[in-house]
Amino acid sequence: MTPRQPVNLTFAITDANTPPGVAAVSTTPSPDPTTGPATDEVPLPTLVQADAATLAQVAERAAGDLLAPPTRHRLADVVPAAQHVEPDPTGDWVLPAEAVIVASADPAALAVAEQLANLLRPATGYPLPVTDATTPEPADGIALVLDDTVDLGAEGYRLGITTNGVRVTASTAAGLFYGVQTLRQLLPAAIESPVPVTERWALPGGTITDAPRFPYRGAMLDVARHFFAVEDVLRVVDHLARYKLNHLHLHLTDDQGWRIAVDSWPKLTTLGGTTEVGGGPGGHYTKADYGRIVTYAADRHITVVPEIDLPGHTNAALVAYPELAPDKIAPPPYTGTEVGFSYVDPADERTYEFVADVLGEVATLTPGPWLHVGGDEAFKVNGEVYTGFVERVQRIVADLGKTVVGWHQLAPAAHLDGRVLQWWGTNGEDPTTAEAVRRGAQLIISPGNHAYLDMKYASDTPIGHDWAGLIDVRKAYDWDPGTHVTGVPSTAVIGVEAPLWTESVTSLADIELLLLPRLPAIAELGWSPRATHDWNGFRDRLAGHGPRWETAGITFHRTPEIPWPSTPAIPGQRRTTPTGVNPT
Ligand code: ACM
Repeated sequence: MTPRQPVNLTFAITDANTPPGVAAVSTTPSPDPTTGPATDEVPLPTLVQADAATLAQVAERAAGDLLAPPTRHRLADVVPAAQHVEPDPTGDWVLPAEAVIVASADPAALAVAEQLANLLRPATGYPLPVTDATTPEPADGIALVLDDTVDLGAEGYRLGITTNGVRVTASTAAGLFYGVQTLRQLLPAAIESPVPVTERWALPGGTITDAPRFPYRGAMLDVARHFFAVEDVLRVVDHLARYKLNHLHLHLTDDQGWRIAVDSWPKLTTLGGTTEVGGGPGGHYTKADYGRIVTYAADRHITVVPEIDLPGHTNAALVAYPELAPDKIAPPPYTGTEVGFSYVDPADERTYEFVADVLGEVATLTPGPWLHVGGDEAFKVNGEVYTGFVERVQRIVADLGKTVVGWHQLAPAAHLDGRVLQWWGTNGEDPTTAEAVRRGAQLIISPGNHAYLDMKYASDTPIGHDWAGLIDVRKAYDWDPGTHVTGVPSTAVIGVEAPLWTESVTSLADIELLLLPRLPAIAELGWSPRATHDWNGFRDRLAGHGPRWETAGITFHRTPEIPWPSTPAIPGQRRTTPTGVNPT
């Protein structure tokens, strides 16, 4: 338990400068030798319009805030938890206004340095010039060093904070980028402010050595059930980057809408893209739009995984091209939320031309190695017809030089080298998937009852579903992707992904409400060593992110499971976060 901070609390009922009915409340934290200089001083005085009862409440709250454990920006408070942390209380450092960010003379390292500067400049108001150097040293600044001898894999990094400044070392730009995400979290939460604030930008001394547990750490956004503008997707990318996720899976096509332009089949978007759940206007990404998302993500070391769902979930494609339908008759556009009724005709060669054209164009637009071909809930395509279809599609993907990913319904189809199944079951007893793994498949784990971000947190969550159960933060956190599916060794698991289906999600605020705070829970399962797994510790670390999101203007669910601090990151900041449920 952190020692409590002594406090002097003075109340003066009115003074010469205050109008009647107003009290000056003066609070002074006493210096605490165990935590160093106080970093969260309370403004003096605070004026409150109050009657006696309210004053008593204010006094109680002020005392509670000050008596709470002091905010110590501890090295071990990072989410996802770091592999190895060595605090050094003698190494604390305060970012000075004249600090310089120096990076290895390498374009990728310099790009990360610019990203860091762009993160720090708004709140600090400091110029933070970026400069290169052959052998960067902090010298009262921040150094980002590419070093081939750092043996922490493709994404690992080492971060050292001393009285001389900060030094991040990695053998790749991705490693430097993750070091920067950690550094950001070690600064006071006010660093998230979009405008300059007065703050002591203190960092805790010590060393972090860190690398991910799994190479695939992702989230999925369904842009088919409801369409989301490019700007919304970029903001989701930002959230992924903050928690060291490295894959964004876009569910681009479904019964309710086709969202990616395909030149060889243009009506997919001009007809098939104009609908969505509930009858809204839908929309689609031009190739330039999609390219913007891919580039923005790549700049943040995130790979886009495009999904074209086949053979089911294809009503929008059949509306556009009835020749693909089994009866060759155009179905009406679909704006409901049922699944499993539609499919492209597996008996028609034209269907395979369609698949090859679409996947070919999407592959050309996508620099990453993956093509996700869906495969789920094709209830009307069964047995050998289904496996035969999937096997042909798998070969089309391989011929395009891509790695096939599909929902775990692909499991019975013949193995193809490198194929990855995305497991979304709710019961880890799945012999069919385990058998596919024995034949060589690898898994991305997305349990419906732990990782589906469209499930409600609690019965009163205003949006979301509950078919896989309620998923509060603890449920999202307390499971292990490495051992979740019986008979599947952890070596066959490439990682974890949190899908967000959007039947009930219509705005960016809705997306964020369901994402936060569960996305960091999934991120920690993907990144952190199992030995760090600890609900109580995670809950306390996560609590500090509430004020960060609030300061950045990000919506989140203020779930009562998490001991959110009662004070905002910036004294006097308005509590503007729309919480949806359980407002404080
Ligand atoms: C799925 O949830 N139908 C993959």
